[in-house]
Amino acid sequence: MDAHDQKGKPGLNSPLWCADAPVTKWQERFPLLAAQPGVPPPELPVPGLVVEQGQLVLRSTDGSPSWRPEPVFARKVSAKSLLARAAGFSFGTSIEILDAMAGWGSDGLELCALGAVVDLVELSPVVHALLVERAEHSALAPRSIRCADSWAVIAEGQWDVILLDPMFPERGRKGLAKKPMQLLQQLAIQGERDLEAWIAQASEHARHRVVLKRRRTEAVAGKPAWQIEGTTIRFDVYRP
Ligand SMILES: C[S@@+](CC[C@H](N)C(=O)[O-])C[C@H]1O[C@@H](n2cnc3c(N)ncnc32)[C@H](O)[C@@H]1O
Repeated sequence: MDAHDQKGKPGLNSPLWCADAPVTKWQERFPLLAAQPGVPPPELPVPGLVVEQGQLVLRSTDGSPSWRPEPVFARKVSAKSLLARAAGFSFGTSIEILDAMAGWGSDGLELCALGAVVDLVELSPVVHALLVERAEHSALAPRSIRCADSWAVIAEGQWDVILLDPMFPERGRKGLAKKPMQLLQQLAIQGERDLEAWIAQASEHARHRVVLKRRRTEAVAGKPAWQIEGTTIRFDVYRP
């Protein structure tokens, strides 16, 4: 992976503009990015990272205001949510969960706030940097937040639950995703492996469950043991 080698997505060495911030601090914090002094050019070809007033933010390509993911508030999460039920734990139990496609971490950090021991993995260095900051602003401490290909990470260990959440296919004109998801679509790196391969790989390294998040209307992959449906999304649960 290099600066823009995957369908124009920002990769390793993507610029991180430190407008009025110390470059070395941000270089040390995110060595996979290219921290540099100055402000970004007015028109960016892809969303870019900027340190503004000491905060890491994402500058979009359309000139709209800078954005960063909101903190996750522990008091707002519920052990009765679809995700918590799919992951199969009641409040406070310390199950080990791998969120293998962490994105902005809304799912993984929710599970962390509920008391799970969570490892988050995200392939895009730009998304990973914002995820690290989001966990910190949420005062949540996952066991790890790695920028890596989770295919290889999965092969290294065992977890009680492995959560898979590949990008949903784009919906064309059918409905525009919300801003966080639109930005993720511009940044997220998607590998070529198919869902069945991911389920098989995760099943070898999950002690209890593999949970696959899907759009509710999408085709079922393989043979889930059961499904939990919401209005727009669905969790397919596989037993290893
Ligand atoms: C749909 S998003 C996940 C959204 C996430 N559940 C949330 O709550 O924000 C999928 C993410 O998986 C990442 N991804 C895709 N393939 C990956 C891989 N092989 N290893 C790690 N992350 C991967 C993408 O870069 C993208 O950010």
